[in-house]
Amino acid sequence: MGRADPGAAIGRLLSVRQLVAPLADVARSRARIAGAPVVLVVCVTMEEMDVYADAARARAEFLMAVQSTAMAAQNLMLAAHSEGLGSCWMCGPLFCPEVVRATLDLPRQWEPQALVTIGFPAGPAKQRPRKPLNEVVGQYCAEQV
Ligand SMILES: Cc1cc2nc3c(=O)[nH]c(=O)nc-3n(C[C@H](O)[C@H](O)[C@H](O)COP(=O)(O)O)c2cc1C
Repeated sequence: MGRADPGAAIGRLLSVRQLVAPLADVARSRARIAGAPVVLVVCVTMEEMDVYADAARARAEFLMAVQSTAMAAQNLMLAAHSEGLGSCWMCGPLFCPEVVRATLDLPRQWEPQALVTIGFPAGPAKQRPRKPLNEVVGQYCAEQV
């Protein structure tokens, strides 16, 4: 795998984001990525997944791989948290996979899904209110189905 120029990679990624996002959001993304001591690029690959001839099952298999990738990345973020580190999930690579693949010289089977920045937190995390459970969870009794 070739070595990437991190400055060029960030510039190319953000130039794609600049086409769609307000300037303040782009500036925030730039600060997040450029200021992180470590940036992981999370990719999915179908290399070890099953192959189906029909589109419906092929799509389900792809979604399963994407879900597995996201779960692995979240485990990674939890592990970072348990070490006292902070992390931030950024979905930018989904919008410009070719830019990320070319800049980092990734194998062509790897589809970039996200960036995870990791570092020591600058301060305590924002406390966010939780929605009440009844707004986000449905309950069904056996008699109803
Ligand atoms: C699926 C997903 C994708 C995200 N993508 C981005 C992103 O591309 N860029 C970004 O700056 N934040 C992104 N975020 C948000 C950050 O991960 C973080 O949760 C959020 O910025 C923290 O809240 P704050 O911005 O209000 O501090 C994403 C969050 C989720 C859940």
